[in-house]
Amino acid sequence: MHYRFTYEVAPVFTVMEAVLLKKMCEIIGWREAEAEGIFSPGKKKDYNHNFSSIGGSISNLYGILVARYKQYPEIKAKGMTFLPRIVLFVSEQGHYSIKKAAATLGIGTDNVIEVKCDERGKMIPAELEKNILQAKRKKWMAYTVDASFLFQGLLGACNQMQAEYLFQPDKVYNSNFDTGDKTIQCGRHVDVFKLWLMWKAKVGICHLLLGPMYLDP
Ligand SMILES: Cc1ncc(COP(=O)(O)O)c(C=O)c1O
Repeated sequence: MHYRFTYEVAPVFTVMEAVLLKKMCEIIGWREAEAEGIFSPGKKKDYNHNFSSIGGSISNLYGILVARYKQYPEIKAKGMTFLPRIVLFVSEQGHYSIKKAAATLGIGTDNVIEVKCDERGKMIPAELEKNILQAKRKKWMAYTVDASFLFQGLLGACNQMQAEYLFQPDKVYNSNFDTGDKTIQCGRHVDVFKLWLMWKAKVGICHLLLGPMYLDP
């Protein structure tokens, strides 16, 4: 499947991604101006659901990366040595990809604090507060709880390098469609196409049962 980083390289897939992300945000109640996203590379095939799926580990990494950037925009140019010791909190039931992301991003797995859960596996708010206060007393800077969501514009601000040979701001189309600079990659596979097909094949039927909100994108 085609790689893409700018609109010219794969216009249909670029628009498909924008449409599907908008649709998904609508379904969970996020307004267009508040949310943004990209499809992350994932495993080839999800054997539980019989379709190729979008990457959980990489999405978690993006959440942490962007949350850190929001708190400390200097990180992009200056790197970790510029920051105080930072910690991040994750549910004790959280996926191990959070620790992998902490290692990859130079935060370190020792700085991932696991918060106790109740018998249903939900993070206990009082435990989270206790851990945050403890970290504050030690003058560690807590910057994220892993329940991340992305604010509009942060992905681009955090990751863009504005390479002039690809991302010219004066193109004849809206350069927001040049999504490559929002990512930590350059070209990406068109993972969105798999979801599009799956949506058409399986989810499209939901509008008959649940109402027009679930209509095909
Ligand atoms: C919450 C959560 N995060 C991350 C992952 C890892 O996803 P992937 O294998 O696509 O990297 C999973 C996988 O099941 C998950 O459930």
